Amino acid sequence: MKFRLHSPEVPLGGPGEKLLGPGFIRYPASDRGIFLSGDEALSQTKLPRGLAIEICGGHGELAARFASAHPECKVIGTDLYVPEYPENRKWLQELPNLSYQKASAFDLAFLQNGSADLIWGQAALHHLAHAPGDLCREALRVLKPGGRLIFIFEPLGHNWLVAAIRAIRMSAREEGDESNLYISQFKKMAEEFSSCEVQVFNLLGYPMKALSDRWAGLAAWVQKVDGWAFRHFPGLLVYGANCNVVLTK
Ligand SMILES: C[S@@+](CC[C@H](N)C(=O)[O-])C[C@H]1O[C@@H](n2cnc3c(N)ncnc32)[C@H](O)[C@@H]1O
Repeated sequence: MKFRLHSPEVPLGGPGEKLLGPGFIRYPASDRGIFLSGDEALSQTKLPRGLAIEICGGHGELAARFASAHPECKVIGTDLYVPEYPENRKWLQELPNLSYQKASAFDLAFLQNGSADLIWGQAALHHLAHAPGDLCREALRVLKPGGRLIFIFEPLGHNWLVAAIRAIRMSAREEGDESNLYISQFKKMAEEFSSCEVQVFNLLGYPMKALSDRWAGLAAWVQKVDGWAFRHFPGLLVYGANCNVVLTK
């Protein structure tokens, strides 16, 4: 199993940017690099008229954007509930390759063995970290050989300051089902996969999330400084605040 921990160059102008589309501006400037890199990883998955499943998809917007970018591919957005907002009805009418299904990420029983090319979740894994073994077993059952399991925008817990701020925010919002994640967990999850890439972001960029878009220029500059620091001092990688995880079966 190949394991790679790194901070990639933010892929500007690629298919990830097209997939992220106008949603780009919704994220704080300091987080745009991580979403772009995550969407680039989704876009790079080979999908020969394939099947792509979103887990923990919430409102279902990313599944719709993905279905729009890949009309040749069947896309199923899943969560513990079926999203029924007016937008979902519109997307379902416009995109015949999109559907939504109620399903726990641990139990994708409606899918056959080896049927999916891609399973992904955004802000998902930290809700599932109590049973990563069960999660991987189900994903490995459903994925085709060479298929990918991708997590976008997950919190890392090695940095004590970041962990403390997250704990305070979770306590203030009375959120009980969120965990920080650790590199050792990814290594364990990766054992049954052929490769695992962990993309790390936001060292000094983490507090930039609190700034408004008026400070986008500063956030972009700090993002560049973070990238430089991660590449020149790889020991800092574990102290990043957020990551994407790309597992290949
Ligand atoms: C932070 S939200 C992320 C939603 C969406 N992916 C996004 O990026 O906006 C986490 C989502 O995970 C879902 N969730 C939590 N536990 C789950 C489980 N065991 N199976 C499926 N979905 C789950 C929640 O219902 C929620 O919609």
